[in-house]
Amino acid sequence: MSNFTPLQTTDINYFIELLGDRCYVDSANLYAYSHDETEDLSFLPEVVLKPISPEEVSEILTYCNEKNIAVTPSGARTGLSGGALPIHKGVALSMEKFNRILHIDEKNHQVTTEPGVITQVLQNAVKEKGLFYPPDPASKGSCFIGGNVSENSGGPKAVKYGVTKDYVLNLEVVLPTGEIIWTGANVLKNATGYNLTQLIVGSEGTLAVITKIVLRLIPHPTHDLLMLVPFFDAEKACEAVAAIFRAGITPSGLEFMERDALTWTQKFTGDRTIEVKENHAAHLLIEVDGFNQELLMTECERIMEVLETFETDEILFAESEAQKNSLWSLRRKVGEAVKSQSIYKEEDTVVPRYELPRLLHHVKTIGKKYGLHSVCYGHAGDGNLHVNIIKGDLSDEQWEIDLPKAIRELFTEVVRLGGTLSGEHGIGLVQQSYMDIAFPEVSLNLMRNIKVVFDPKGILNPGKIFSTDRK
Ligand code: LAC
Ligand code: ZN
Repeated sequence: MSNFTPLQTTDINYFIELLGDRCYVDSANLYAYSHDETEDLSFLPEVVLKPISPEEVSEILTYCNEKNIAVTPSGARTGLSGGALPIHKGVALSMEKFNRILHIDEKNHQVTTEPGVITQVLQNAVKEKGLFYPPDPASKGSCFIGGNVSENSGGPKAVKYGVTKDYVLNLEVVLPTGEIIWTGANVLKNATGYNLTQLIVGSEGTLAVITKIVLRLIPHPTHDLLMLVPFFDAEKACEAVAAIFRAGITPSGLEFMERDALTWTQKFTGDRTIEVKENHAAHLLIEVDGFNQELLMTECERIMEVLETFETDEILFAESEAQKNSLWSLRRKVGEAVKSQSIYKEEDTVVPRYELPRLLHHVKTIGKKYGLHSVCYGHAGDGNLHVNIIKGDLSDEQWEIDLPKAIRELFTEVVRLGGTLSGEHGIGLVQQSYMDIAFPEVSLNLMRNIKVVFDPKGILNPGKIFSTDRK
């Protein structure tokens, strides 16, 4: 329950004095910061603040901590678990003015950036120096790097290159009590005390506000090859995934799309260049990358040998950059396409890779039991399956009563397979009622205690990840 103090005129006046015209109470701004990309959820904040420096963030947090005002940090609002929703009203703290790349350190292969830089802008800037920042969520053209750090975002490249956490070396953060600190050092190895940096990564804006980020970079690969493989059986497509790795290949992308995922996206985008035949149940999109074209060709041949043991239709090899872009664009737009089709609920299930066929099987069996249709796609190489459960023409009652039961059953199977609730979208608001499936009470209490150490009054992004009520 909310025990925050509603904003008074004196509070607004304080913020205006501090930030001038970067304090917003107009309905357009309040509405814009009331939602992210999570379902159709919307919670109006009472004010939107757009600071430009760590010192301003510190002043805001010190004031809100003192006055018991809820503060919800906000990036580009592309999140899918409701991490940026100001569910307790108060301040929406926009980080959009922190939009500068501060230093590309070519000597050390590092970049220091502010959190409000669009991920793709950062990737392009380092690419100009021959460097690579691999994590590439579907929303890379609009999401902020700060949001990626807060959610520990992944994306297709994670299968070879790892997720956001694998690149974060050091963070400047402002604590809810106002102190500005660096969490670590700009080094590749660090065995110095608790790892505060990685505690902040993926903490969904509940522990501190990130104001600077130091990322490690790697040399940018010079070549890649991409193929789209149709399968007559979706579970077989999932089985092929682990087989590819067992053959000694680590693709730089290994994505799964169930039939509906691809056909709905074709309808949504109008791009029908791929022929999806009646008997195509699913596709794998497979990319290899590196620095030597011939080696990549050999890897593709090896992959094709593996695929021969599964029943596939004719493989499509992308022949040009344009065709590669169009295939990747189809894949990246699946989420939007599903969203445009129906009310839906997305689960971000993840299991050890070899268990992927079993996961898909459970999704479909549980779906059948409850009469719930699902569209599945995602990062198969990581065992990370986005399960989109479609409302279609189900009654509101069926949706509200059966859906949580079905999700609970699904997550129980996921955990039994050695997996967990979210691979890359986070828990935020919409998955927290399932946290008891992933963690025993003793672990949830550890998390609650960590939260209290950082944020004794619980003002920062309240009501996210887990309930703060003890059992
Ligand atoms: C994707 C987003 C939804 O993989 O994570 O498209
Ligand atoms: Zn994804």
